[in-house]
Amino acid sequence: MANGEKILIVEDEKLIRMTIRELLEKEGYRVGEAANGAEAMECLHSQEPDLLLLDYRLPDTNGLEILKESRRLHPETGAILMTAYSSIDSAVKAIKLGAYDYLNKPVKHDDLLATIAKALQTTQLQREVARLRGEQKRDYGITNIVGRSRPMLEVFNLIRKVADSSASTVLLQGKSGTGKDLVAKAIHFSSDRADKPFMNITCSAISETLMESELFGHEKGAFTDARQQKKGLLELAKDGTVFLDEIGEMGLALQAKLLRFLEEKTFMRVGGSRDIQVDVRVIAATNRNLQEAVASGEFREDLYFRLKVIPIHLPALKNRKDDIPELVAYFINRYNKEFRKNCQGISDEMLNCLMNYDWPGNVRELKNIMERAMILETKDKLDLDDLPEEIVQYDGDRSEGKPLGGTGQASGSTGIVLPEGGVSLKDAEFELVRQALDATAGNQSKAARLLRISRDALRYKMKKFGLN
Ligand SMILES: Nc1ncnc2c1ncn2[C@@H]1O[C@H](COP(=O)(O)OP(=O)(O)OP(=O)(O)O)[C@@H](O)[C@H]1O
Ligand SMILES: [Mg+2]
Repeated sequence: MANGEKILIVEDEKLIRMTIRELLEKEGYRVGEAANGAEAMECLHSQEPDLLLLDYRLPDTNGLEILKESRRLHPETGAILMTAYSSIDSAVKAIKLGAYDYLNKPVKHDDLLATIAKALQTTQLQREVARLRGEQKRDYGITNIVGRSRPMLEVFNLIRKVADSSASTVLLQGKSGTGKDLVAKAIHFSSDRADKPFMNITCSAISETLMESELFGHEKGAFTDARQQKKGLLELAKDGTVFLDEIGEMGLALQAKLLRFLEEKTFMRVGGSRDIQVDVRVIAATNRNLQEAVASGEFREDLYFRLKVIPIHLPALKNRKDDIPELVAYFINRYNKEFRKNCQGISDEMLNCLMNYDWPGNVRELKNIMERAMILETKDKLDLDDLPEEIVQYDGDRSEGKPLGGTGQASGSTGIVLPEGGVSLKDAEFELVRQALDATAGNQSKAARLLRISRDALRYKMKKFGLN
């Protein structure tokens, strides 16, 4: 049964018009009528039907003209052409102009209802696809990448440049959790390829043989299991983007084939003998140092050079700590929505602690920590006790944190004095770390707390200064 979809019947014979109207209304459609071209145009200018039922031959024009105008005004309105003169020619023209189908007159009622139902379903699917595309553009666009630190501004700049360009290869490098996935999608969805497919494959997840057939496809009989010909991602992503994640894990043989594709834009399916040409942009990502992989013979140098023509480096979070407050606000907003919470922010102590931490897992780690805190928290402000022990080493009592270096004249709130003639900041840091360890008899947790840094950060500094 219909859902009250609006159908406009354009038909000059009154009897046919009335009969169809009755039929459709019984089915639950809302029906409009036009007896000629002029009336049809008038209707199209004042309303947007879901479907047009068009007679080909009209007193003042023909159905194709109305179809054209309808496509122009309402690209999402479907159309079915009815014609008495089974003319293939006009039917073909109608389909080319975007009609869904055509029916020969006199139309059988069952055929008509079935065709209308299918046409409406197709239109609905097309609308759905358009809506999802819009949503994807919004959800994966560049605006979903948070950051204002200088290195991130540089990243945004590159994303925009690359997206607009015809560059066919991009290399994303950065440690785990720095946002490579996010950037790959942002490049695709802010480029003119956005309406074409974005295909994603992780090179480490599957065997090399499987990977090859996933990427390039295979012909029937290419290997035991190849019962059917299959298109690979490169073909499926035609005119779009293929994202090759963890490219550093790709085997050498496949690397050679990928290089050929990047250089010649052609490839063969596995077991095939025909060159296939496609235009896709390849975005490769890795958290490995590819230069080292080249040095150790695990990665082809020629492929590395080909990939790194346009490199985008995603900086580790510890090198752009200015982004932390904004990221925190972003995740609070996001999890407020997701968990229906009303969190208002975090305490200064918690922010200090997050700023001091070194984030080996980068933004992903921060995101996980915020998620955890938000799930557990019921107060409207997050505090140190919402953070995991490792990050804060917090035991509810910070009072033992005496000012350090207290022998000289206290200045400011820290009690630290700048010696006359200055001091190397590194030496000062060394001295403070050493004193903190002294004061706590080498207890790292306590020393870290005295220095308001995480235990990991302390260990790192101890290693740096050879204080083990
Ligand atoms: N700048 C950012 N703004 C907002 N969210 C971010 C940002 N960077 C990363 N994230 C989020 O952090 C998580 C990890 O990011 P992503 O998956 O893109 O990292 P990755 O570099 O691909 O990591 P891996 O090497 O482990 O695959 C994701 O949930 C992502 O949405
Ligand atoms: Mg990733």
